[in-house]
Amino acid sequence: MHESDDGNLSRRDFLGAGVTAAAAVNLLPGTALAGDGSKADRMIGVPFASRDVVRIGLIGVGGRGRSLLRDLLAIDGVRVTALCDLVPAHAARGAEMVKEAGQPTAPAVFDGSDRVWERLVARDDLDIVYIATPWNWHVPMAVGAMRQGKHAAVEVPAATTLDDCWTLVNVSEKTRRHCIMLENCCYGYNELLVLNLVKAGKLGRLTHGECAYIHDLRELLLSDEGEGLWRRYPHLQLDGNLYPTHGLGPVANYMAINRGDRFDYLVSMSSLEAGLTEYRDEHLALSDPKRQERYRTGDMNTSLIKTALGRTVMLQHDVVSPRPYSRINMISGTRGTFADYPARIMIEGQPEGDAWAGLDNYQAAFESPLWKRMGEIARKLGGHGGMDFIMNYRLVQCLREGLVPDMDVYDAAAWSAPGPLSVLSVRQGSKPVDVPDFTRGAWRTARPVMG
Ligand SMILES: NC(=O)c1ccc[n+]([C@@H]2O[C@H](COP(=O)([O-])OP(=O)(O)OC[C@H]3O[C@@H](n4cnc5c(N)ncnc54)[C@H](O)[C@@H]3O)[C@@H](O)[C@H]2O)c1
Repeated sequence: MHESDDGNLSRRDFLGAGVTAAAAVNLLPGTALAGDGSKADRMIGVPFASRDVVRIGLIGVGGRGRSLLRDLLAIDGVRVTALCDLVPAHAARGAEMVKEAGQPTAPAVFDGSDRVWERLVARDDLDIVYIATPWNWHVPMAVGAMRQGKHAAVEVPAATTLDDCWTLVNVSEKTRRHCIMLENCCYGYNELLVLNLVKAGKLGRLTHGECAYIHDLRELLLSDEGEGLWRRYPHLQLDGNLYPTHGLGPVANYMAINRGDRFDYLVSMSSLEAGLTEYRDEHLALSDPKRQERYRTGDMNTSLIKTALGRTVMLQHDVVSPRPYSRINMISGTRGTFADYPARIMIEGQPEGDAWAGLDNYQAAFESPLWKRMGEIARKLGGHGGMDFIMNYRLVQCLREGLVPDMDVYDAAAWSAPGPLSVLSVRQGSKPVDVPDFTRGAWRTARPVMG
């Protein structure tokens, strides 16, 4: 099946300002849009149309946007044709990077208002729109891009409500455009190597995984620039896991979620809130308006997810405690276990016996070909140890060669949904909540994980 052009909707159809994405496309959660809801409507296994040059527009040229841009500009066959940021200086800085990289033409620049991105997605010189804006903009921008006939590559989490997860699925299916969540951690060196071990059956039948986003962001959350301008606000409103996808994406891949298994239900529990308040009180002046804020997000949120095949996943979120960074990245099966931070493995029958061994024993045979080929430049560019470059390189490769993308809209929805589901479960006293089946039954069919 090839990309169809029937997604080129007119500007008249475009989302109106201020309307929630779900309401604007007039959908009930879970409603199939096109046809009879048969598997042919899914965006599963749908390859990109091949092209020599990939024309990219970027919305959001902040910290993350610039890092993505630097990677994209280092990849053959990429033209960055348009940039957009609310703040003119941010957009200008991006345009300067494009010029310095020696791209043949200067990008079109859109700035100065929070709706000016609508002009970027309406252009006809774009194949894919990268979105690296604050969380509340991800869904309107991705929907806007797809409804204008472009693929969307959206930062994490793709969506923060269940309705918006469904909206991304429904709009991707209707427009026949991909919505890919830029889950860079799926491309980490260890993650791809361990995925190969899992695929080769080295860990046996998988039973349990553990993952997390544990990252001390206290200073950043309370700062007056960059993410400090927006990322603290969910802490005032929600108690649950605000950032589930970095840990969950790789574990979902090990377990072939949406490709033979699926997340079925979830229970979640939060600790008390203490860390951000205490840090704020110790570091900010009494006159700072942030001293009036009341944070609701418990310092440590722990969710347990049960899968349809009976596996379990422990998923944690803590961005306010003084402890080293960790995504845990642990996977266990009937023949072995891998755990990260630091990376260690035990496989039944190994010479080391019942003790952790180094992953290096498996490097030669199981290293990802992407890292073998592109590891040097990835490490040199450095974004998160190189995994950002590998992710961007691979997405561009899929677009140029007309391949099926590694991650699709069902992954974006399934990995983002534990955010709002954890909030719901915590609110209900840690009651189990069902995880929607965003594939509407297609998860039962096995298909390749990550290409
Ligand atoms: N995958 C990763 O490893 C990773 C790392 C950092 C951030 N992120 C994600 O990237 C996204 C951006 O984070 P960041 O650190 O760059 O934040 P940031 O605050 O540094 O940058 C956001 C940019 O978006 C711009 N912006 C805001 N509203 C806009 C609008 N309506 N139209 C156009 N531009 C707008 C801002 O002016 C700013 O330049 C977030 O979703 C975050 O979760 C992902």
